[in-house]
Amino acid sequence: MCGIFGYVGNRTAQPLLLDGLRTLEYRGYDSAGIFVPGYGVVKSVGPIVNLAEKITEPIDGTSGIAHTRWATHGAPTEENAHPHRDMSGSVWVVHNGIIENFREIKEGLTVQGVTCDTQTDTEVLAKLIGTLYAGDLYAAVREALRRVRGTYGLAVIAEDDPHQIVVARMGSPIVLGLGSDGNFISSDSSALLAHTKDVVYLDDGEMAVVSSDGYEVHTVAGQKRQKTPEKVEWNVEAIQKDGYDHFMLKEIHEAPQVIKNTIRGRLLIEKGRAKLGGVEGVLDTLNTLHRLQIVGCGSAYYAGQVGRYMLEEYAGLPVEVELASEYRYKRNIPDKHSAVLAISQSGETADTRASLLKAKEQGLLTLGIVNVVGATIARETDAGVYNHAGPEVAVASTKAFISQLTVLVLLTLLLARERGMSQEEGVEIAQALYALPDVLSSVLEQADMIKQIAEKYAAYKDAIFIGRKFHTPIAYEGALKLKEVAYIHAEAYAGGELKHGPIAMLEENFPVIALCPHDDVYEKMVSNIEEVRARKAPLLSFTTSGDSALASLSTDVIEIPKVHPIVQPIVTTVPLHLFAYYVGAARGLDVDRPRNLAKSVTVE
Ligand code: M6R
Repeated sequence: MCGIFGYVGNRTAQPLLLDGLRTLEYRGYDSAGIFVPGYGVVKSVGPIVNLAEKITEPIDGTSGIAHTRWATHGAPTEENAHPHRDMSGSVWVVHNGIIENFREIKEGLTVQGVTCDTQTDTEVLAKLIGTLYAGDLYAAVREALRRVRGTYGLAVIAEDDPHQIVVARMGSPIVLGLGSDGNFISSDSSALLAHTKDVVYLDDGEMAVVSSDGYEVHTVAGQKRQKTPEKVEWNVEAIQKDGYDHFMLKEIHEAPQVIKNTIRGRLLIEKGRAKLGGVEGVLDTLNTLHRLQIVGCGSAYYAGQVGRYMLEEYAGLPVEVELASEYRYKRNIPDKHSAVLAISQSGETADTRASLLKAKEQGLLTLGIVNVVGATIARETDAGVYNHAGPEVAVASTKAFISQLTVLVLLTLLLARERGMSQEEGVEIAQALYALPDVLSSVLEQADMIKQIAEKYAAYKDAIFIGRKFHTPIAYEGALKLKEVAYIHAEAYAGGELKHGPIAMLEENFPVIALCPHDDVYEKMVSNIEEVRARKAPLLSFTTSGDSALASLSTDVIEIPKVHPIVQPIVTTVPLHLFAYYVGAARGLDVDRPRNLAKSVTVE
């Protein structure tokens, strides 16, 4: 949440700062601002385009900091937009995170005669740094951070010393980008791709002084750190829309390639096995696990729920799935034969990370399924698997979600074979995974038809999604997407729960979206569908191709190919995501940037 970008070098900073912010805009779009020493600050409310329009005079400085905000403390006004300044206007700060003791610090500053003009915690930090600044910015920031409690990804620059930017990290990511004609700082590596693939990830408790020809890293306690630069694998093309109206649509259409990238080198088809290099070192422990706890938030949590059905059904491994925002606060009864698996696209979600830290404190093995290479969760877990889905720009998670499901199939196959699944059964799953990209290509060919159906449902105010077993969490995922990108009130239920309450809502303006592929709970779902039909609610069914019985019961049908039950939820998800996308688009909404949301939820 909130995007930070900065540059110090030989080039004109302003266009670089604006481009960096555009790439980071998915992290928040309540307001934005830039500061270039010698040229002052420009701020605006709303998206980056508003900020760009406000820059009417040339800004030629060769360093600066920039910020795009997801409001936490203080309304999304221009006044509260970052960068914030100290009393003298010499020190400027952009910040992602929350300074918990900002009221306390503010009281101390007031006694010194230092006043604040905004409602933000960040301004208090800027003022504090300003009171400590006497020509050495690094020393001032370090001293200020010793007095601060909370989370931060921070960049600070001084008007009278434009040749360096001081950055610090505690809980919110900061990445340094090492360029050939200057150096960059960013909240994530995707915004650096246009300039460099050589990056340095700061760890919590670290600070860096970045100048045009280098960088130095220390801990807040003052210890020098040697950090080796790493290479980012992603390409700049991956963060462009490529002719699609929205990133969300592009990312849904990437599905076949995403599956190929997720399974590449990980399937031993003839042996019916999966090979996951990232967990090989802990395979002995995994083989003796009595229980796996999966934690995640939002779509990642639903992916975990599908993973539970997979791992219990095929590997016989008991699984609990917990919302990370609950797990971290509840009592967890440790068991030395259990492990915790965090699922996170960004690898930065605060609650997911906190759950892992709790599991670590309890001495449990921690695992991760993470998309962003080098992200905090990936680095803090004992072992894990990268998705290799490529950068996901739209706030709504689509390609990362199907990649998470795919990794969970791979993990299930790996553990199931270790726990006694026959080679024959393993080969069936491996083949089903291998065939998936072609299956998804055929599903995507139906996009126009799905669009037409979605346009009919765009007029409704409510919807209930139902499914059973593997498709219960997929129903939740469908409802989440419809809320997120179309602002339609949507709920989800396991099909069997409909008659325990929600059926009371049904009438001719309350559609039901039923996920009903031909599987072992098909007949049960058909009974639910009959109940819906009897209440005259419009019914959209997702079912396997050629199901004329269901077609005659439904108002509309989206047909999906029938595949192995373990990969069926992946095949159902793609048209479900398309449906939500087209409903949002038909309602004229900015589906890539839903109101009030940000992609990377780094606040708690
Ligand atoms: O980066 P993460 O996977 O940890 O993010 C978790 C959720 O914030 C995320 O899935 C969110 O629910 C999406 N906006 C759903 O589309």
